[in-house]
Amino acid sequence: MSTWNIELDTWEDRADLLPEDAELVQSAARGLPLAHAPYSRFHVAASVRLADGRILVGTNQENASYPVGICAERVALSTASSVAPGAAVVVMAVVYAPSGQTSHKPLPPCGMCRQALHEQRCRQGQPFALIMAGTAGPVWKTPDASQLLPFAFSGDDLP
Ligand code: THU
Repeated sequence: MSTWNIELDTWEDRADLLPEDAELVQSAARGLPLAHAPYSRFHVAASVRLADGRILVGTNQENASYPVGICAERVALSTASSVAPGAAVVVMAVVYAPSGQTSHKPLPPCGMCRQALHEQRCRQGQPFALIMAGTAGPVWKTPDASQLLPFAFSGDDLP
């Protein structure tokens, strides 16, 4: 029998976050207006801090053909990979605002994004942290985003 554990730090008050984590959460929150979410009105922004210190932001980009839409996390990872090829992601922070309203519950990433986060972890050969937050209220952080997809499929499984 095998068991998988997920390490999760939680903060009730974001004033207690490390300053660099608070900065990344704020950066994501500032990116929320860049979301293109006319169909769900669920605005999501993901900020990544790269090993060289750069911070890049991605937001969800929806499409009238609904499945074409892409989540903020995958936009952020694709942006990082394109703008700073080879630079490791150190931390990602995800913030959301439904219909532009205040949100109070941290947002766990969807399954497809968990697969993309896992791919990034394999690609860079080292784990990176994931911070989940609303625009207010508690904050969650896992030191290894790929822990959110236990028993994951990866390139190693391909022949
Ligand atoms: N969304 C994200 O951007 N990230 C997630 O992890 C969950 C969902 C987006 C996709 C869609 O544009 C909207 O939120 C509603 O599902």
